[in-house]
Amino acid sequence: MYLVNNLLRKGLYERYRLTFEHCGDLSGARVLDMGCGTGRYSIECAKRGAAHVVGIDFAPSMVEYSQKIAQEIGVADKCAFICDDFLAHQFEERFDIVLALGFFDYIEEPESVFKKVAQFCPRKFVASFPKFTPIWGIQRMIRYKWIKRCPIYNYTAERLEHLYRQAEFKRYQVIPCHKGFFCVAGTE
Ligand SMILES: C[S@@+](CC[C@H](N)C(=O)[O-])C[C@H]1O[C@@H](n2cnc3c(N)ncnc32)[C@H](O)[C@@H]1O
Repeated sequence: MYLVNNLLRKGLYERYRLTFEHCGDLSGARVLDMGCGTGRYSIECAKRGAAHVVGIDFAPSMVEYSQKIAQEIGVADKCAFICDDFLAHQFEERFDIVLALGFFDYIEEPESVFKKVAQFCPRKFVASFPKFTPIWGIQRMIRYKWIKRCPIYNYTAERLEHLYRQAEFKRYQVIPCHKGFFCVAGTE
């Protein structure tokens, strides 16, 4: 059980480490965390000195949980958690850093998301994407599509390069990692 748990979590630890390695110094940054879930990335950004962090998730329970934890940790004044669909929400501000960790797994049409992110002109757009692998891919398909009735989507490096180019990101890096890709891009 310990081994299975470790294998399942390996990708999550790697993603977390890569995210903060690539974000670099967050002092004073305005951060958007798309599909913030339990707020673990938003809260860590605030702890690392970000000036303002907006976490958005369309699941009310996730937003409530994030708000509660941000209060407990003492960073609630720097964080705003919004319960809405990322594509439907009208943002009033721009962001220096946009995070989308574990978000694109659920996105049927990533083209629109890429275009909306590009409009913020972020210094860094940090995102993870799953890829189909014979063992994990089939296991995920059974777990999500058939048991939870939640469709999930996979990506290839070629598709990702096409998405970045189409949304006119000036630079992007597609890094193969455990069970998928970790990507860092920018519009400047
Ligand atoms: C796997 S969780 C990842 C959470 C967090 N980023 C992390 O890595 O811990 C994906 C989250 O994205 C949210 N989500 C998916 N599609 C969304 C959309 N269109 N707008 C807002 N939230 C969305 C889900 O509700 C879910 O909480």
